[in-house]
Amino acid sequence: MEIFKHLMFSFISIAALTVMVHAESQSGFISIDCGLPENSVYTDKNSGINYTSDATFTETGVSYNISSEYNSSTLEQQFLNVRSFPEGTRNCYTIKPALENIKFLIRARFMYGNYDGRSKVPSFDLLLGADVWDSVELENASTIVTKEIIHIPRSNYVYVCFINTGSGTPFISSLEFRVLKNTTYETESGSLLLYLRWDLGSTTNKTIRYQDDIYDRIWEPYNRPEWTPINTSSVVFPDIYKQPSTVMSTGVTPANVNDSLTFSWATSDNTTQYFIYLYFAELQQDQMTKHNRQMYIYVNRELWYTKPYVLEYLEASTLYTSGPIDKLDEFSINKTEESPLPPILNALELYKVKDFLQLLTNQQDVDAIMNIKTKYGVKRSKWQGDPCTPKAYLWRGLNCSYNEYNPPRIIFLNLSSSGLAGEIPPFISSLTVLESLDLSNNSLIGPVPGFLSQLAYLKVLNLAGNKLQGSVPAELIERGDNGFLILSVDGNPDLCLSTSCTKRKNVVVPVLASIVAVSILVAASISILWILKTRKKGTTWNNENNGTLQLKNRRFLYSEVLRITDNYERIIGRGGFGRVYHGNLDDTQVAVKMLFPSSVQGYKQFQAEVELLMRVHHKNWTTLVGYCDDGTHMGLIYEFMANGNLESHLLDEERSIADVLSWEGRLRIATETAQGLEYLHSGCKPPIIHRDVKPTNILLNEKFHAKIADFGLSRIFPVDTGTHISTVIAGTPGYLDPEYYTSNRLTEKSDVYSFGVVLLQMIASKPAIEKSIDRTHIIQWVSFMLAKGDIRNIVDPKLQGDFSMNSVWKATEVAMACVSQTSAKRPTMKQVVFDLNESLAIEMDRTTVGHEIESKDSSESISLNLRSELPPLAR
Ligand SMILES: *[C@@H]1O[C@H](CO)[C@@H](O)[C@H](O)[C@H]1NC(C)=O
Ligand SMILES: *[C@@H]1O[C@H](CO)[C@@H](O)[C@H](O)[C@H]1NC(C)=O
Ligand SMILES: *[C@@H]1O[C@H](CO)[C@@H](O)[C@H](O)[C@H]1NC(C)=O
Ligand SMILES: *[C@@H]1O[C@H](CO)[C@@H](O)[C@H](O)[C@H]1NC(C)=O
Ligand SMILES: *[C@@H]1O[C@H](CO)[C@@H](O)[C@H](O)[C@H]1NC(C)=O
Ligand SMILES: *[C@@H]1O[C@H](CO)[C@@H](O)[C@H](O)[C@H]1NC(C)=O
Ligand SMILES: *[C@@H]1O[C@H](CO)[C@@H](O)[C@H](O)[C@H]1NC(C)=O
Ligand SMILES: *[C@@H]1O[C@H](CO)[C@@H](O)[C@H](O)[C@H]1NC(C)=O
Ligand SMILES: *[C@@H]1O[C@H](CO)[C@@H](O)[C@H](O)[C@H]1NC(C)=O
Ligand SMILES: *[C@@H]1O[C@H](CO)[C@@H](O)[C@H](O)[C@H]1NC(C)=O
Repeated sequence: MEIFKHLMFSFISIAALTVMVHAESQSGFISIDCGLPENSVYTDKNSGINYTSDATFTETGVSYNISSEYNSSTLEQQFLNVRSFPEGTRNCYTIKPALENIKFLIRARFMYGNYDGRSKVPSFDLLLGADVWDSVELENASTIVTKEIIHIPRSNYVYVCFINTGSGTPFISSLEFRVLKNTTYETESGSLLLYLRWDLGSTTNKTIRYQDDIYDRIWEPYNRPEWTPINTSSVVFPDIYKQPSTVMSTGVTPANVNDSLTFSWATSDNTTQYFIYLYFAELQQDQMTKHNRQMYIYVNRELWYTKPYVLEYLEASTLYTSGPIDKLDEFSINKTEESPLPPILNALELYKVKDFLQLLTNQQDVDAIMNIKTKYGVKRSKWQGDPCTPKAYLWRGLNCSYNEYNPPRIIFLNLSSSGLAGEIPPFISSLTVLESLDLSNNSLIGPVPGFLSQLAYLKVLNLAGNKLQGSVPAELIERGDNGFLILSVDGNPDLCLSTSCTKRKNVVVPVLASIVAVSILVAASISILWILKTRKKGTTWNNENNGTLQLKNRRFLYSEVLRITDNYERIIGRGGFGRVYHGNLDDTQVAVKMLFPSSVQGYKQFQAEVELLMRVHHKNWTTLVGYCDDGTHMGLIYEFMANGNLESHLLDEERSIADVLSWEGRLRIATETAQGLEYLHSGCKPPIIHRDVKPTNILLNEKFHAKIADFGLSRIFPVDTGTHISTVIAGTPGYLDPEYYTSNRLTEKSDVYSFGVVLLQMIASKPAIEKSIDRTHIIQWVSFMLAKGDIRNIVDPKLQGDFSMNSVWKATEVAMACVSQTSAKRPTMKQVVFDLNESLAIEMDRTTVGHEIESKDSSESISLNLRSELPPLAR
């Protein structure tokens, strides 16, 4: 009892957690000076930023002033005090931004300043949500460490937490949120961890932030002796990155006109990916119209953009990478041979890609439990951060359900002896998958609310030891009587545990009304029993998120399936687990995949497929129209793909020559398939591995657009184990990644391998494994032909030479890279898409007569595409 602070009728206003967005300046800023006394605010004398106390954002920790020897007039005020977290291993701030789905720059800053008088700098981990953001390492008491990330929170609540790793007490000096335009700093996936942000050629040696920078980025001055700083007193106009004029009006050029501006460093690890942002502006007026400064930009010694880059006078322009760069160790800016002026650079930023993979608790459950916490004054030190994740820091008294696909949900809530007063919290009704609820030994009053009987999964309900009144809802009593619910209501003197007691006082209730009421109750309890019964079969997947709700409407009865398929009139496919039938639904054609009733493995795959298809929406994936889960009949209804699967087009000997897929057509199908896989690997959170990429799973619609099908074997990357997962070997012989086969380690590169085999098949129109006695694999055959230098004879003879040799060569290179024995040598699907597009462009150049390549004008931003080295092939 002593453990919990009982706070009866304490209302911590949730509004205090909601930070309003200022309409004028500092729009969307959340500026928290940690350790500042509660309710204090001040305006920073340099930046003019208004800082508030952190007291409403956390319930734990202790405020300290730094030691006076570290207090100086130049130190920003935010470092004068800190919040320290001596208790527990995890402590959190909870911030609820007023806007959702916003791109934030989040910054946490730390200066120890010997606040605790121990003269020992700690180190600890910083978390964002449930994932490690970074570790905080301080050199000495006056070191200022700044951790900054550009991140779009996936939840309404943002948790910034500190983990005590055994190397001292975590603390923090300030926490800031800034709103960025979502069209800047774009990544396909992942957040951006700030690595460096430099203002080059600064004349003042001062850091620049708000109000020069409206986004309050902090620019550090940087210069080198071999560079010549240049500056202008004019204003430089920003582009959408809103570079401050003070940053852009200074820059550097190499002291020797023929030298380059080179940035290089030793890469310590080869897993980190980077994004580069280079900011340029011409500062010398007399060069305005002549474009006398022409530059080439190299990244990792490869030319970034093939055209010379030119600048406009006093206009900022940004060059950035559109995709992540692997193994970045150098970039340089060189003048072109003709350029009389040396290269210039005004500012730059470098970010590391950081993936946030942990699924946070279901939003509805979070809102419910947060409301219970604040409105009922539940003060528990372990009630911090996300309720269910990471599992090690699960909120005390809670238990959650976890699976690979969906956010965790709260299934168990124990609030016994927690000093709850007032009526039973209505927010509990939102915890819709709750299985066990314990509210015993509190001071709850009022009736037992009807919503408790709506909790269809509830198996244990303990309300004992309160002051509840009235009668227990009949449904709950009935579920107790039927053994579906363990119900305890002892120790509530005014509570009546029978359906008859409500009417005793109120004799004037018309008989008819009570009969109606009883029949409604009976109907309700029947439906609950029914829900409980159907649930026993294990169909838990149909009560999850919004995606499912949509799909619920698309649930078909078996009788409807029979009508749609015209009593299974036309079989269009057969598989190990069932058959596929043609059907008509509202005048559109569909494909109906029905499972054999006995197929247990099939049922698992059926569930996997429904769950995945609900998450996957991409033009190169078959669309799920609906499903059937009616008794023993289970099936999936897809859009109909008029031109069947790719294999029949490649290998079917009976097709006429007129039906042969052209080389361009094949390349389009290959590119679209690659896009579909790329989406799965980098567009889905967490990423998904298909595991069964093969021509029969690539379907073609009436316009020969490719869509990937069959999720039956797909696996989602689990969260903890890094980039690979161990699993039972599954897949199709001929397409199985040999590394996966021997190591049992599954990565997305296994799909790349399978795709490589498919691509070879599209070039050669051969099966993956020859049906002859020696069962030659297509990779061996192609390698053999390449070694002979005989590339022309690799190509499907049915194409009759109607293709660009360069295009085929390019595609073969890609395919051979994909089927490299070691996964590390294989390209990513993103690179594959890029290379196939190039191959397609070559082929289209050949087929389009009089085609002219428009030279692109230099624009504000240019994309970078760096490609991995392809293995050398004999030409
Ligand atoms: C900052 O605080 C000052 C003084 O409290 C106030 O006058 C000003 O409006 C605030 N500015 C913003 C942007 O909130
Ligand atoms: C911190 O310093 C301020 C004066 O700057 C003082 O008012 C306050 O009491 C100090 N707080 C603590 C916890 O020592
Ligand atoms: C820091 O020094 C300033 C004067 O330079 C003083 O006003 C302030 O109270 C000091 N703060 C702390 C926390 O010692
Ligand atoms: C503290 O560390 C910083 C680097 O983080 C260094 O520049 C500074 O000189 C150090 N100060 C002392 C007093 O050692
Ligand atoms: C950017 O945000 C706006 C609203 O703030 C939204 O309409 C738009 O779809 C977003 N764009 C992207 C690419 O997320
Ligand atoms: C800026 O810093 C450099 C190197 O630390 C120094 O040589 C130079 O004098 C400083 N300039 C100003 C204006 O402080
Ligand atoms: C710009 O650089 C020149 C030297 O080239 C220097 O004299 C001048 O003070 C600088 N201007 C500013 C605004 O710092
Ligand atoms: C730069 O290179 C050009 C051509 O190679 C040469 O004529 C010129 O002397 C070089 N300038 C310097 C300063 O090295
Ligand atoms: C850029 O210029 C430097 C100096 O002239 C030269 O050493 C370097 O090779 C050039 N870089 C590239 C990629 O051409
Ligand atoms: C980094 O690359 C080197 C050489 O390519 C390799 O030996 C090492 O295992 C790689 N490390 C990681 C973490 O991938």
